Amino acid sequence: VKLGVMASGSGSNFEAVAQAIEDQQLNAQIQVLIYNNPTAKAATRAANRGIETVLLNHREYKNREVLDQKIVETLRQYDVEWIILAGWMRVVTSVLIDAFPRRIINIHPSLLPSFKGIHAVEQALEAQVKITGCTVHLVSLEVDSGPILMQAAVPILPDDTAETLHARIQIQEHRILPQAIALATQANLTEIFLPTTGAVSTN
Ligand code: GRF
Repeated sequence: VKLGVMASGSGSNFEAVAQAIEDQQLNAQIQVLIYNNPTAKAATRAANRGIETVLLNHREYKNREVLDQKIVETLRQYDVEWIILAGWMRVVTSVLIDAFPRRIINIHPSLLPSFKGIHAVEQALEAQVKITGCTVHLVSLEVDSGPILMQAAVPILPDDTAETLHARIQIQEHRILPQAIALATQANLTEIFLPTTGAVSTN
């Protein structure tokens, strides 16, 4: 399966996917990395692996829809079938979602539906929960929603800071993101999320 990865930051999840492919744990190829932030380390990681990169700086587009239209065009040029949001810190619009229906995967650093949004790790600490984690899910219009593919739990330790906790969550992200991509791209998602067996209405 041909993947397009989108990232804004360090790209450690991008790296985990690329490594899983290299190790033949994931039968896929990364056609292109799209990044929006000129200083994203993800771009260096891709270049080091000989993976093509395209910078689409959101500041150069007048709104989210126009950016997403450019993203769709770029993904089509690279013949992408599935999109992986690996730390893509922009809200995506229906322009992207409608172009790749049920073909966009996101990784989020909490056990959804708890702690949506960009401060998920800090919010888990503030809430004083004892367990948090990470979630891989299909992207729908509502942010950090959509059918869940895989989750991993991570304990919160007494001395945790946002940094130490996020580092522990990322170990699990790097493990489950490639697994969830394999699951999603190889399974029949309709069967997983819309079981055909169910109660029969008597009305
Ligand atoms: C990850 O924690 C992911 O859950 C969140 O953004 C972070 C990206 O990290 N969406 P990296 O750039 O892959 O290192």
